[in-house]
Amino acid sequence: MKRYGIVLGAGMGTRMKSEVPKVLHEVMGKAMIEHVIGALETAGSQELIVVTGHKSELVEARLGDRAVYAKQEEQLGTAHAVQMADGALAGKPGMTMVTYGDDPLLTSETLELLFTKHENSGAKMTMLTNVVANPFGLGRIIRDASGEVARIVEQKDATPEELKTTEINTGIACYDNEVLFEALKLVGNDNAQGEYYLTDLVEIIKGMGHAVESVVIENVDGVLGVNDRVQLANNGRIMRERINKKHMENGVTLIDPLTTYIEADVVIGSDVVIEPNVYLKGNTVVEAGAFIGAGSDFENAKIGSGAQILASFVVDSEVGAHATVGPFAHLRAGAVVGAKSRIGNFVEIKKATLGEGVKAAHLAYMGDAEIGPRVNMSCGAIIANYDGKKKHKTVIGADAMIGSNVNLIAPVEIGEGAYVAAGSTVSKNVPAEALAIARAKQENKEGYAKRL
Ligand code: UD1
Ligand code: CA
Repeated sequence: MKRYGIVLGAGMGTRMKSEVPKVLHEVMGKAMIEHVIGALETAGSQELIVVTGHKSELVEARLGDRAVYAKQEEQLGTAHAVQMADGALAGKPGMTMVTYGDDPLLTSETLELLFTKHENSGAKMTMLTNVVANPFGLGRIIRDASGEVARIVEQKDATPEELKTTEINTGIACYDNEVLFEALKLVGNDNAQGEYYLTDLVEIIKGMGHAVESVVIENVDGVLGVNDRVQLANNGRIMRERINKKHMENGVTLIDPLTTYIEADVVIGSDVVIEPNVYLKGNTVVEAGAFIGAGSDFENAKIGSGAQILASFVVDSEVGAHATVGPFAHLRAGAVVGAKSRIGNFVEIKKATLGEGVKAAHLAYMGDAEIGPRVNMSCGAIIANYDGKKKHKTVIGADAMIGSNVNLIAPVEIGEGAYVAAGSTVSKNVPAEALAIARAKQENKEGYAKRL
């Protein structure tokens, strides 16, 4: 049966106290609604409708063509929100999963379970429920004598007796798509909040003579939802634990998972060892056998197999296989470090490509450069790439030796195998195999020290 998905994300998220729409707040590197959309896509939903309202343009800009958008101008309740998808979905055969954009922990496995149960049971609505210790604020599931779901009652409409129920409505449910949009027409707003409640569909669909089924989610942290920043942090912690567990199961050693932060899309090979206080972000890829030392922070980094990185920042950059980096190096904006290179303490590399076996063991800066294999950038050597207005390029040929404290003033080319003497300030090209000395000649004045 064809699968559709609706994601509600029109709410203001008042309790977030934010200029950013709630569903765009991030959990482990992705907006909450991106996690939900991803779970729906993985569970096979072919058409996704996102109901937007508050700052809809920001939500649409983030999700792009992964979804179709339906705008809810006024937030009159969850049933009203789902009705906004009428134009896109009404009358189409299939089943529709309704989810909330602020449930980042919802997994594709849970959605798959719901879709499958729904399809196999023949029910027209299959809801996901959860038994929680503190149900305050949530809709309670009221079952009849035979144990079937009779209705859902919201906190504000419930009797004291009903409030004792600890089985709650997660809000996530699968519907027969045609029945859904028929039933929505029958929802009223005669309740404590004067809203059109999606939860009324239980009684309405039963009233139409159809079966309503439920799945009780086992994993209690499965669907928590986020209303404020405390819950945002809690959802983040749970997601982090899940991500870390997955990597450990795949053969990655995390010395201390509690202080290891790996965002959702990071890829890590086997036998990688990660020390505490490491943050791996974005589309970072770490290949097999690499070692990531404490205090490292990577974003969109590609780390080759067997590389060793100590306490360094690597952003939008690559480190080749078996290279060593750090401690305290900063690679950014398209730095590419060749295999087996050695980048030591306090070295910064920006938009520069280094061949194999380059050494820059201490205190160097390489920006806007092409650096051949086995070049040695000695202590304190820098490339002066910026003239105050423009950046210029520097090329250093293979096997060149750049002495300590050299300034290479770009644009400049150093030929293969050339030798630039320590302390030189080089502004003219140096031919291959040449020795360049560009510094004031030393003069020794005998006996002067004492007189001074
Ligand atoms: C809802 C359920 C409640 C359930 C809880 C789980 C109803 C009436 N109640 O309550 O049973 O236990 O979720 O979290 O459905 N939204 C819109 N447009 C609207 C209203 C809401 O898009 O007009 C969106 C919100 O952005 C949010 C989601 O729907 O993502 C849920 O709305 P919210 O107001 O948080 O519902 P609850 O009162 O928490
Ligand atoms: Ca809510």
